[in-house]
Amino acid sequence: MKAKPRSVSIASGKGGTGKTTLTANLGVALGALGKKVIILDGDLAMANLSIVMGLTKCETNFFDVLSGKADVNEALYTNYGIKVLPCGFRFEDVHDALSKVKRERVEEVINELLRQTEFLLIDAPAGIQDTTIISIAAAREMIPVCNPTYTSLVDAYKIVRLANVLGSWTRGMVANRTGKAADLSTEEIEQFMGRTLGAMPVLADIPEDPKVQEAERDGVPVVVYEPECEASVAINELAKLVAGEADLPYVPYEEPAIRETTSRLIRALTGRSV
Ligand SMILES: Nc1ncnc2c1ncn2[C@@H]1O[C@H](COP(=O)(O)OP(=O)(O)OP(=O)(O)O)[C@@H](O)[C@H]1O
Ligand SMILES: [Mg+2]
Repeated sequence: MKAKPRSVSIASGKGGTGKTTLTANLGVALGALGKKVIILDGDLAMANLSIVMGLTKCETNFFDVLSGKADVNEALYTNYGIKVLPCGFRFEDVHDALSKVKRERVEEVINELLRQTEFLLIDAPAGIQDTTIISIAAAREMIPVCNPTYTSLVDAYKIVRLANVLGSWTRGMVANRTGKAADLSTEEIEQFMGRTLGAMPVLADIPEDPKVQEAERDGVPVVVYEPECEASVAINELAKLVAGEADLPYVPYEEPAIRETTSRLIRALTGRSV
């Protein structure tokens, strides 16, 4: 039987926690495990997923697809074993597209992507703007990324609550850029999140690692650039966990994803249930 597609948004309340880095590298790591993966740049205004993926010349992008100027397949680029739907950055497009994003077209695009892949990872923009809501609502699962500070945890709490409202499921979170003396430990993060949200395990603790920025400068995902560095090891472990290949309590939803995705988007954007 064909595996059911999994859609996962990577989100945070606060900007700069490492969402784009994680989307790209978790995607590549899942690809290396033999999974079919598409990563989508949902950060329409600040689009930079393609840069982390080493794609500098993407003639066609998500804006063209949303506006109906291009088909999904014309905007999918393959690099490092996975497909990327980049967003590009053109001032006139940002203004135009953001004001005219059509719910029906977003649904069509997401459904087409889910037909083609096992994993769809969506790099969500920070905050709780429309594009964040769309990115989170479009996926059945959400992985919040926090940094090991109290303010970042409070922001992660907010984004988990938002995901709950949108019907997106969060099994656990990722703590990124950890390891400084004053940082909260994994236990402290789990205690804090547990007090406010019930149980919220830390699925991965990714240390601050200079290789991440070196790799970014070269336009190569760090899991390819330096597979043995601490950050890559942690991301590869996370990929095994997310793929369900490790003995960890990450239980994906069982029902078909596509119809549900559509319903959640409609609920999120219109308040109507279908
Ligand atoms: N574990 C890490 N160690 C060192 N640097 C990191 C790590 N994770 C991310 N970074 C760096 O932090 C910066 C911000 O990361 P990234 O762009 O992925 O965050 P973001 O959450 O997508 O930001 P935004 O909210 O602006 O979209 C980047 O320069 C990235 O290379
Ligand atoms: Mg980003």
